Amino acid sequence: MKILSVVGARPNFMKIAPFIRAIEKHNLGNEYQIQHILVHTGQHYDVRMSEAFFTELNIPDPDINLEIGSGSHAEQLGYTMIAFEKVLIEHKPDWVVVVGDVNATLACSVIAKRLNIKVCHIEAGLRSGDMSMPEEINRLVTDRLSDLLLTPDPISSDNLRKEGTPEDKIHFVGNIMIDTLEANRERASKLSIEKIIEENLAHGTNYPDKLPLDSEFAVMTLHRPSNVDDEIVFSNLINFLLNDVTKENMLIWPIHPRAKKQLKTVGLWNKVLSHPSLILLEPIGYYEMVRLNIGAKIILTDSGGLQEECCILGTPCLTLRWNTERPITLRENGGASVLVGNDIERIRKEYYHTLSLNRKPSRPELWDGKTANRIVKLLYEIGCKPDISVLQSIFV
Ligand code: UD1
Repeated sequence: MKILSVVGARPNFMKIAPFIRAIEKHNLGNEYQIQHILVHTGQHYDVRMSEAFFTELNIPDPDINLEIGSGSHAEQLGYTMIAFEKVLIEHKPDWVVVVGDVNATLACSVIAKRLNIKVCHIEAGLRSGDMSMPEEINRLVTDRLSDLLLTPDPISSDNLRKEGTPEDKIHFVGNIMIDTLEANRERASKLSIEKIIEENLAHGTNYPDKLPLDSEFAVMTLHRPSNVDDEIVFSNLINFLLNDVTKENMLIWPIHPRAKKQLKTVGLWNKVLSHPSLILLEPIGYYEMVRLNIGAKIILTDSGGLQEECCILGTPCLTLRWNTERPITLRENGGASVLVGNDIERIRKEYYHTLSLNRKPSRPELWDGKTANRIVKLLYEIGCKPDISVLQSIFV
């Protein structure tokens, strides 16, 4: 049985690493081997956005890299589809496995279905209800096309049921991101904050006069078009950081290329670089991000993965969005996050309130570090295991 899985952008790498490990584990003890091919579309291509994660998370080099690179959504989708069709025609897998909600997820599931190849979607059923998010469109189309929809929580399974997805296609397997977190958090916790800062300072930044200790710093990440691309929204957010956040705490900001570009465009790059309480880093590695999360007093983010990691680690989190496809991570549902959108008054109020909160780890059902094993077992049961009745009829 041949499975071809696809990664394209940074948040995919943490999801595919445990899946590959689970296939290797399956193959060790089973005479029916799963043959696995890894395709990287190349949407994220910087060493810090891509290659570093392969090394750190011990992901084998991709068998195929489509080298799509940057571009408009249409360009990324179109070029990926053209290149991926050739890969599928050559390799003829039984299953295509896609993860998450990035452009690679959508492009590859569409082409697989066009070629009558079965699609399995890991992290199915997430819905923000916000059709202005490219990721929401990617999720909707991918789920509509998928043959096997593997959900991280019961809310996501219900979303699929409400949309009319047949029950036998939906399987609640847990959150595969947490497999990676649990496999690596102990090692990550041993990293030194000082070293993380030293090794990742953004180009042009001076080494900070004072380094923060655990619980003395905030962490921010920002990359969504809704926060970054609008100059007014973005500038207001940056001024809030400079005027409020850094008054209470040192702020560590590993910056995404999209945000870096915009800081320069709106003329705030030098102000941010020279601020004594703001430590600007290049994109950092997985262990480093987990270490910052473990030590942070508070996290401000628009990343979906960080909301989930904050939930398990208990870090109070302000989600800089008006909605989330991961409601299970919200404080009202027992998690550590609160939605604050990008309205500065609302962010300020929640920021000061959240500073008074303690860490409160919580673990949603099946976020137990064993999701990848469940997925591989399921794929094997459903798609890989030879049909016993056929075998029996041959031998009668
Ligand atoms: C993508 C995903 C998003 C995910 C995010 C994590 C989609 C629609 N969005 O958004 O779901 O949360 O990744 O990072 O797939 N760039 C570089 N170096 C790189 C990659 C990108 O400089 O290695 C630049 C690009 O030129 C572009 C910008 O960063 O200008 C944004 O990249 P893009 O791939 O369009 O989407 P992300 O915002 O990263």
